[in-house]
Order: sequence, then C-alpha cells, then structure tokens
Amino acid sequence: MSQKLLAGEIADQLKRGAAEAATHAYAPYSGFRVGAALLLSDGSVVTGCNVENVSYGLTICAERSAVVRAVSRLGPAVRIAAAAVTNLNNAASPPCGACRQVLAEFMDADAPVFFPGDAGPESRTLAELLPFGFYLNKSS
Ligand code: THU
Repeated sequence: MSQKLLAGEIADQLKRGAAEAATHAYAPYSGFRVGAALLLSDGSVVTGCNVENVSYGLTICAERSAVVRAVSRLGPAVRIAAAAVTNLNNAASPPCGACRQVLAEFMDADAPVFFPGDAGPESRTLAELLPFGFYLNKSS
C-alpha cells in the first residue's frame, strides 16, 4: 500500500472521528457544532467538541478540548501526528488562531491539519496555518 493511500485512509478516519465528535458539541449560543480528531504518537485517536458557556469567553473550541484529552491520556510527552476538524453546519472551519497556537505545542511543523475550506476539503501543514507561532527561545 502506498504511503499516500495510507495517509488518505488515516485522514478519512480522522475526518469521521471529527464528525462524530461534533454531534456531542455543546453549542446552545452559536449553534455552530465543531468536532476535532487527533492522531497521537501511539497510533490512537482522540476527539473533542466545542463546549460553550453562558459567559461566552469561557467557551473551549473542539481542537483545544481534544488537545486536553490527548495530554490527559498520554501525558506531557504526547505528540500529535495529524489533526482533522469539521462542523455540522456545512461551513468552512479552519482552526482558529488560538487553537493553532495550542496545537503547535504538541505538533511538528510538517504535520497535516484537515478542515473544510470555502471550496471543499482542505489540508495544510501546521507551519502553513501558523507561520509565525510563538515559541520560547530554548537557548536562554
Ligand atoms: N469553534 C471551534 O470549536 N473551533 C474553532 O477553531 C473555531 C470556533 C467554536 C467555538 C464556538 O463554540 C463556535 O465554534 C462558534 O465560534
């Protein structure tokens, strides 16, 4: 099996996981139901959905709720090999800026992120989504 086909199957699995997770979204304020699925370093997949709050700013996005589950499951050394995001509203939904920065904590620059774009399915590397992310200067 070619590497590309394998990658395609993993992407499809992640997209299905994200769609399933979106059905669990708690989004009574926006009505925008988002799901995310992350492929972890041990080969397992974790998912997350957005969880809104009446104090709107306390809302957590699907991507970040999935990251929290990933670290809770595998600990602080967890790495995320790929991510998929989707929504049940037939809208484009690339990860928001905050989620890109949080994903960057655990994802390599060349790891793929799959999401619905304006004209259909899209994928970008993390580096493409977050070209000037914040990283601590490890030499100081
Ligand atoms: N949302 C996500 O879950 N992920 C994103 O990357 C962007 C936005 C959620 C937050 C809120 O519950 C709803 O979508 C509308 O902004």
